[in-house]
Amino acid sequence: MTAPASPTETELKASEIRYFDTYYHQADMQRQLMDGYLVQYFENEFGRTERLYQQPLNRPATVLDLGSGWGTLAIWAAARCPQWRVIASDYVPYSLTLHDAMAARMQVPRRNWRAAADWDSLPFADNTFDYIIADRALHHALDPVRTLREVRRVTRQGGLLIALREPALPLYRPGARATFAVNMLAEGTNDHIYTPPQWADILRQSGWQPRLRVHTEDMERFLSGGTTPLGRRGRKWLRHRVPLDWLERLMYAFVARWGSTPELSKITLYAQAL
Ligand SMILES: C[S@@+](CC[C@H](N)C(=O)[O-])C[C@H]1O[C@@H](n2cnc3c(N)ncnc32)[C@H](O)[C@@H]1O
Repeated sequence: MTAPASPTETELKASEIRYFDTYYHQADMQRQLMDGYLVQYFENEFGRTERLYQQPLNRPATVLDLGSGWGTLAIWAAARCPQWRVIASDYVPYSLTLHDAMAARMQVPRRNWRAAADWDSLPFADNTFDYIIADRALHHALDPVRTLREVRRVTRQGGLLIALREPALPLYRPGARATFAVNMLAEGTNDHIYTPPQWADILRQSGWQPRLRVHTEDMERFLSGGTTPLGRRGRKWLRHRVPLDWLERLMYAFVARWGSTPELSKITLYAQAL
């Protein structure tokens, strides 16, 4: 008996496009905003970037959001940095049509441009962008080195990549590590999780100088899910906008004591184009 042929890249992409097209037709936009938590998270990450690279982000710049989906990050970034010209790109064209509605939900004007594009062949000239931003997107790349080389091509030397909410293997609960990729593939998406050193290698191989920052974006789940010893108290802290650095330290203390992590712990990839 011959083994079934593995799906081709074209098939994998077509399957993911179908998956996200259905998802964006059905999912609840309001929930994505996590009651304002996400916006606080974005601000926190942009603040970290400014400190890390000692530069204000709000300066005249051309910016590309990769895998923008319904545009949460692109819309927020254009409001946060009014001097930016932001282009949001995704290979699911329907997602781009949701940006006006998302901006209304976020209560900011939408001032981003939109481009239906596959990040493996971007319709932009070399050295076009000063910043590349992405939110929980790059781990969907089938060949991340190839994708990040293409992204490097359209980025000016010295330009920055800020990729938020990338899943990071050691931060997952051991049980979840084994099943994550398999489950996601079965659902029709191309999720991959790498360790932070693997991400660093991927970035170096594709022309970027990486600086990774490990932390978690899912503090609200960890603290407020009711499934942890901290339970409801965590929800109250978050409502009062406890700084994320503080929450991060708390999570590590929790991990050290109980040896478990929230299921969806993620890292930010910061990198500079060489
Ligand atoms: C998990 S979603 C994130 C969407 C949005 N950034 C957010 O955080 O809500 C990943 C997005 O990456 C997009 N994507 C995956 N592969 C892509 C590719 N090859 N080119 C462009 N977009 C891609 C998907 O269509 C999807 O919208």
